Amino acid sequence: MINVAIDGPAGAGKSSIAKAVAKDTGYIYADTGALYRSVAYYMISRNISPDDTAEIIAALDGLEISLTYKDGQQRVIAAGEDVSDKIRTPEVSMGASKVSAVPEVRTFLFDLQKKIAAENNIIMDGRDIGTVVLPDAQLKIFLTASAEERARRRFAELEGTEGVTFESILADIIKRDENDMNRAVSPLKQADDAVLVDTTDMTIEEVITLLEKMIKETEEKES
Ligand code: DC
Repeated sequence: MINVAIDGPAGAGKSSIAKAVAKDTGYIYADTGALYRSVAYYMISRNISPDDTAEIIAALDGLEISLTYKDGQQRVIAAGEDVSDKIRTPEVSMGASKVSAVPEVRTFLFDLQKKIAAENNIIMDGRDIGTVVLPDAQLKIFLTASAEERARRRFAELEGTEGVTFESILADIIKRDENDMNRAVSPLKQADDAVLVDTTDMTIEEVITLLEKMIKETEEKES
């Protein structure tokens, strides 16, 4: 199985790029951020604060999360509910960044991620895929862009959503970068053997073409 790990900060375009590349190459796309988001959503919907570590750990006991694929799209099922369309709000984004710093939450989601990667040719994106989850991935990419550019892209996606301004998105991105890079367990960090791709001045099509070329080269090397 070929495993492609894509890591990078919030808003670098990981998911849209990985999704497009997976479609073109026939790989399965696994969005691991959605798993952390579903844990955050589950906690928030039970009135557990994403800051309340003890309550979060206790609540994990009753939680079952799985990934399924419908029409090629990943769906996340948390406690029997398809939460895929409910986990993209700013509240859940920040909650995910917080719950993901809890070591028990990371352990809880670890096996699920390993299992999907063992069974499929996969493109998996997240923060610690190349460093922790799939250290043996044949191709590792660290995808980044300046914070302003990332905020601009996110704003374009969310424009028109009530209460969302460019400034609020930029502030959220900077705060999440800080949380994600400075947590004690599995912080966001480029793996030593990852290829750095800075997309600040690239179009999405250019990034997709570049990644598909890298995957082709990896497949040739592995065959
Ligand atoms: O990629 P995303 O924005 O959907 O991720 C949401 C949060 O989940 C992110 O701020 C940090 C956390 N996360 C993580 O800690 N490890 C991963 N592999 C993926 C996401």
